[in-house]
Amino acid sequence: MHGPIGIFDSGVGGTSIWKEIKKMLPHENTIYLADSANAPYGEKSKEEILQLSIKNTEFLLQQDCKLIVVACNTATTNAIDYLRTHYNVPFIGIEPAIKPAALHTKTKKVGVLATQGTLSSSLFHNTSKLFAEGITVVEQEGKGLVELIESGQINSVVTRGLLLSFLRPMLEQDIDCLVLGCTHYPYLIPLLQDILPDHISIIDSGEAVARQTKAVLEKNQLLNTKGQPGEHLFCSNKGIEVLRNLVDDDNAQISYLDF
Ligand code: DGL
Repeated sequence: MHGPIGIFDSGVGGTSIWKEIKKMLPHENTIYLADSANAPYGEKSKEEILQLSIKNTEFLLQQDCKLIVVACNTATTNAIDYLRTHYNVPFIGIEPAIKPAALHTKTKKVGVLATQGTLSSSLFHNTSKLFAEGITVVEQEGKGLVELIESGQINSVVTRGLLLSFLRPMLEQDIDCLVLGCTHYPYLIPLLQDILPDHISIIDSGEAVARQTKAVLEKNQLLNTKGQPGEHLFCSNKGIEVLRNLVDDDNAQISYLDF
C-alpha cells in the first residue's frame, strides 16, 4: 500500500492544482499543506523560499508521501532543483506555461502574470529563452493578488481594480495569450474573463501538472490500485475558512495545524 500524494503551496492557491489531480487520479489519497502563515512567498528571498520549501517537504515526508507536488510556481522556480537532489521521492513542479503560449500566440506577444519570486528566477528566464524565441514576453508582477485571494477576495472591487491595473499595459502591447504564473490566479479566471477581450486566451498549467503526476506515478509503479475514492486531508497554519470555501468538498478533512 503506497502513501498519499503530498502537495504544498504558500497558501490556498495550490488547491487549484489539487482539483486537477483529484479529477485525473480519483483513487489517490492526498495531503495538502497550505503554508498561509508565511504567504506570500513571492516577495521573499530565494533562501527564504528554499527554507520554507524544505520545511514543507520534510513535513510531507514524515506523513509517508510517495510523491510531492510543489503546487507553487514561486517555490518550484526557486527550490525544486534542491529538493530533487536532496530527497528520495519524485517531485512534480509547476512553472508558467510559456511554451504552450508561445505555440498558440498569433500576435507573437504573450503576457505573464506571476510573483516577483517567479519572474526573477533563473528557471523562468531559462524557460522563456528556450521556448519564446521571437516572442515578446510581457512580464507583470501580480503584487497584492495572493494576499487578496488568501483573504477570500476572489471577486471584490479591490481585486478587480488591481487586476485592471496589471492587465492594461499588457493589452496596450497587444498580447493575445495571458499565462497565469501563480497557482492562486486560476481562482481569478471568472473575473479575468469578464475583463479581458474575447480573443485573449488564458493559459494555466493545472491540468498539465495533473497529467505529469499521473505519468510519474505510473512510471514508478506508485499508482494506488485499491479502486476506492481517495481520501483528502488539508492542513493550514492560518485560518481554514477560505481554504474550506475554495476546496468545496464535503468529504475533505480540513484542519488547522501549526506545522
Ligand atoms: N501560489 C504561489 C505561486 O504559484 C503564490 C506565491 C506567493 O505566495 O507569493 O507562485
